[in-house]
Amino acid sequence: MLDLHCHILPGIDDGAKNLDISLELLKEEKRQGVQAIAFTPHFHPNRISLESFLRAREHSFNKLMSAPGVTDMGIKFKLAAEIYFSTKINDMELDELCYTDTNYLLIELPTDERPYGLTHTLRDVINRGYQPILAHVERYPYFTSDPTRLYDLVEIGCIVQINGGAILDGEKIVSKYIKWGMAQIISSDCHNLKNRTPNLKDAYGAVKKKYGDDYVDWFEKNARDVFTGRYVDMPVPKKPKKVIGMWL
Ligand SMILES: [Fe+2]
Repeated sequence: MLDLHCHILPGIDDGAKNLDISLELLKEEKRQGVQAIAFTPHFHPNRISLESFLRAREHSFNKLMSAPGVTDMGIKFKLAAEIYFSTKINDMELDELCYTDTNYLLIELPTDERPYGLTHTLRDVINRGYQPILAHVERYPYFTSDPTRLYDLVEIGCIVQINGGAILDGEKIVSKYIKWGMAQIISSDCHNLKNRTPNLKDAYGAVKKKYGDDYVDWFEKNARDVFTGRYVDMPVPKKPKKVIGMWL
């Protein structure tokens, strides 16, 4: 398994508060069988400059990598970021926010309302040669209430990530996104060891039980393709249709 979305780096965001917690989170990822991790601390373009963020991320990453035993854990590590959506991103240099040596960018959206300029900005990002991965799409009510809005973004080339927790909670919309071919990546989005923990082992167990081994293999392959910068081979998504008040 590979975890492409987590907040394990110490002291940089609302994830691991210190190095001890980071190390515990890494041990737990390892115990569950995770072989590769991309660190994705929050980056909010309206709150911090890109330069300051990159400096803080490097400092935190170096601190973790120099802790005893970390580089001997047998886990591959990469840097990335969870970028809070802003129309500003099209005026920014994005290379260093991508998963290292790839063109994949993890983008978080606001939870309250669909942001102004979303499709336009993401299309511009794609035209610049990047591929956006939309973080934890189960969280956005404007997609749940009208999944064709998410479909339109998949159609222009966005990849969709769902959190392991949403699978474990049996969120109905997640099953639908999977059924419609609109969700390609599962990640833990772990922050701590209390309520937002590493959970990929259980999440993949739930995928196996509910959808079968082929889906497990497919989700793992997609995560590997993103991590290594290969093309993610996506099925043509099925456009959701509203029938008697239900999205089918
Ligand atoms: Fe996150």
